[in-house]
Amino acid sequence: MDFETKAIRLQTERSQFQEHSTPLYLTSSFIFEDAEEMRASFAEEIERNLYSRFSNPNTAEFVNKIVALEGAESGYAFATGMSAIFSTFGALLNAGDHVVSCRSIFGSTHTLFTKYFPKWNIETSYFNVDEVDQIESLIQSNTKILYLETPTNPGVDILDLEQLGKLAKKHHLIFIVDNCFATPYLQNPIEYGADLVIHSATKLIDGQGRVLGGVTVGKRELIKEVYLFSRNTGPAMSPFNAWVLSKSLETLAVRVERHCENALKVAKFLEEHQQVNLVKYPFLKSHRSYEIAKKQMKMGGNIVVFEIKGGIDAGRKFLNNIKMCSLSANLGDTRTIVTHPSSTTHGKLSREDLLEVGITDGLIRVSVGLESSNDIIYDLKQALENE
Ligand SMILES: Cc1ncc(COP(=O)(O)O)c(C=O)c1O
Repeated sequence: MDFETKAIRLQTERSQFQEHSTPLYLTSSFIFEDAEEMRASFAEEIERNLYSRFSNPNTAEFVNKIVALEGAESGYAFATGMSAIFSTFGALLNAGDHVVSCRSIFGSTHTLFTKYFPKWNIETSYFNVDEVDQIESLIQSNTKILYLETPTNPGVDILDLEQLGKLAKKHHLIFIVDNCFATPYLQNPIEYGADLVIHSATKLIDGQGRVLGGVTVGKRELIKEVYLFSRNTGPAMSPFNAWVLSKSLETLAVRVERHCENALKVAKFLEEHQQVNLVKYPFLKSHRSYEIAKKQMKMGGNIVVFEIKGGIDAGRKFLNNIKMCSLSANLGDTRTIVTHPSSTTHGKLSREDLLEVGITDGLIRVSVGLESSNDIIYDLKQALENE
């Protein structure tokens, strides 16, 4: 089955009512025929739904689709992308373990590594996106995980999944990729050796700015650990959100394709504009890792970043001039969203850390939506040019 067919046709078994579209199973628990069935279910001798913190027909449908779309073996769905990240690390790491991670990661993931992991005696060493050749020197005898995002948030830098997959294998590290910016439609890290793939489903997977969600998929034996940790600590996705997100997956391919077409047009427009210093978009030939992006991604994604001439003041003026696009923290919505990462999503990073990951004062992130590309470009143009 092709991607689009899996995203539509993988479905929870129909009930006696023969509904066409999967109904919402809004129930916290499930009932048993007798004491023996209940005992055997809790003892995991029988595989079935017990309680929606563990599993539910709606979350199972959503997870099964992501598993199929990523080429994974198994998965578990979470309330948010951050709970997927936290629970995955929480399940796999012990006190005294070490993580090697790319420095360019989502702000809350950075906070997790630098503020909370040290409390549990877990250390993280960072490598910069352009210093991949130094990763081996960071690996220690207690290193357990190699972690990265590609494209990165917000800088849309690209890391070579094939190269890093081989490196992780050579050093017996668990290779975990946050695939949120690419979605399973554009990129499948498991093909390149990722053991686990994490998504914030809040972004392009929902795609309409409605619900929060997260998911981790990958190798069965690792997911088993993640599941047991999560079943006992409680970060499960709600059945309602799973129902919404499973419907969203039915249109993921067509939505993401149009997002990418619009984003490429926006990137090309910005590249020509005299008020703009620098534009980064993985499928622009000027992107430092254009060839790697072409190798591992089907299209360039929906995030375009650019640096406006005039630094922080010009950046603020640009945002204040915006008329149609939204000023919001989310991304991957039908609506185009413009943000200023250094004062918002990555505001907790020190100035030094911001500059180290390329987040300058004038950096603007555009999450290109599904409005007409003419209207998106018109709004960006008037905001750049209005005094
Ligand atoms: C790359 C990336 N990973 C993880 C997250 C966290 O996801 P959530 O907001 O669903 O917790 C985000 C949120 O923006 C993100 O951009």
